[in-house]
Amino acid sequence: MRPRCAFAVCHVFMLVLCLSAAEDFDWTKNDHGSFYYGTFPAGFSWGAGSSAYQTEGAWDKDGKGLSIWDVFSHKKGKIQQNDTGDSSCEGYYRVKDDVSLIKELKLNHYRFSISWPRLFPTGIKGIQYYSDLIDHLLENNITPIVTLYHWDLPQVLHEKYGGWQNISMVNHFNEFANLCFERFGNRVKYWITFNNPWSVAVEGYETGEHAPGLRLRGTGAYKAAHHIIKAHAKVWHTYDTQWRAKQKGQVGISLSGDWGEPVDISNQKDIEAAERYVQFYLGWFATPVFHGDYPQVMKDFIGRKSVQQGLGTSRLPTFSPQEKSYIKGTCDFLGIGHFTTRYITQKNNPSGRGSSSYFTDRDLAELVDPRWPDPGSEWLYSVPWGFRRLLNFVKTQYGNPAIYVTENGVSEKMLCTELCDDWRIQYFKDYINEMLKAIKDGVNVKGYTAWSLLDKFEWDEGYSERFGLYYVDFRNKNKPRYPKASVQFYKRIISSNGFPNQREVENWRRKAVETCSSSNQLLAADPLTSHMEMVTEIVVPTVCTLSILLSAIFLMFLLRRRN
Ligand code: NOJ
Repeated sequence: MRPRCAFAVCHVFMLVLCLSAAEDFDWTKNDHGSFYYGTFPAGFSWGAGSSAYQTEGAWDKDGKGLSIWDVFSHKKGKIQQNDTGDSSCEGYYRVKDDVSLIKELKLNHYRFSISWPRLFPTGIKGIQYYSDLIDHLLENNITPIVTLYHWDLPQVLHEKYGGWQNISMVNHFNEFANLCFERFGNRVKYWITFNNPWSVAVEGYETGEHAPGLRLRGTGAYKAAHHIIKAHAKVWHTYDTQWRAKQKGQVGISLSGDWGEPVDISNQKDIEAAERYVQFYLGWFATPVFHGDYPQVMKDFIGRKSVQQGLGTSRLPTFSPQEKSYIKGTCDFLGIGHFTTRYITQKNNPSGRGSSSYFTDRDLAELVDPRWPDPGSEWLYSVPWGFRRLLNFVKTQYGNPAIYVTENGVSEKMLCTELCDDWRIQYFKDYINEMLKAIKDGVNVKGYTAWSLLDKFEWDEGYSERFGLYYVDFRNKNKPRYPKASVQFYKRIISSNGFPNQREVENWRRKAVETCSSSNQLLAADPLTSHMEMVTEIVVPTVCTLSILLSAIFLMFLLRRRN
């Protein structure tokens, strides 16, 4: 059956199942077409986010050490166009400007990350930088939400120990976190230990698409994840025993998770495959921190395949009983980074020697509906209803924890200098609406972080994908920022704390798109501005120097002739 026909049939099946299977969550309310007008609970926190390597630039300034991303991006062929984060948005030098953008949006919180190699081993100025950033935010009533690890591991720890492949990282990370609690914990009350450890493990140590670029298929990701989970738990305990009483903050972890929907919801195998997809993604990390161990389905599948491959033990490491109780419950709030959804169907993968990988261990295939919009990144299809389902999954699986959505957003392609980002408005409108529905379902979502504040370095995609609410002109050395239309739209959602009624929301959208056309002209004028800058900064001084030189020669010549 062609995928399109399959989907049409599946939609009918879906409806049938929706009418019959309503346990904790009434799926019948999840009519994909209907929009819910209403407001968020009082005190709901609205924010935007960034990360150090993606925005700061200043990669070798003020005593900052090398990170694995500095080294990885400097190798040819690893990143689109061989882009690097060397200067990126120059965020390191633009604290005040960026805080005014955050103010302009009227955000309640701002999520950023601390670059470990900016502090260790020699980064005295790095401490000052983050301290100033935190102060500026607080002066403007913006709550900092701080991530300790957004992928930029000090290179020296990779070279010496093999990075997250090595258990010694647990103590190193704990030392770094402890320093951050000591220096910033009087002002920072929300800490995220790790951002999206799934990517760190799978793309850093299994496929090698990300730094440090290792391809240890079938084992590397599981080992890295094992140490990351232990490191997270240790840092949570450090905070709990040494800082919590004094600083009264919270420590969580930010996990990413796509939603997996069964292709055929009347087929038990597809239902199980879709559940497996989510368990191997979000559950891999969430189940240990909430329940103390890996999801049973991961233990079963990886264990069985390891045996079939003739291995004596499972490729999935195990936690001892002491470790399980130490890890269980180490999450004051759960950060969720969510962007997209996949249809999932059962697919058996042969498990011969040498063929093992995280991906084949899952025995499933991922599909997409060709009708789903995908304006930017190849992997990012807009499927708002998947967000509500994922949030409800978290509620039922992990005892309805406090959730902060730490990342949600959509990209566009680099060459698109379009500030009238109607598709982003649509994405935010629908995803935020599905989050509102999830809150009405009883999911405990406390805050939402649009990803991202600025266009920035998008890892292996370089600058070719733009996620920002603000457009950054990377060709201009001053890296000017321009608001996209979505800034106006997001601002309205924030000031109304939701969606008042259809007429107003449509009005917001119309106005946002209207105002962006004038900013678009500004952007179009930008090459001219850069030209002018070049004239004043290079051409004028050069011409002046040459004229002075020529006059001197001419004068000498005249004087000689006189003599
Ligand atoms: C998740 C990562 O945490 C973030 O850094 C990245 O920009 C987004 N995914 C989009 O790819």
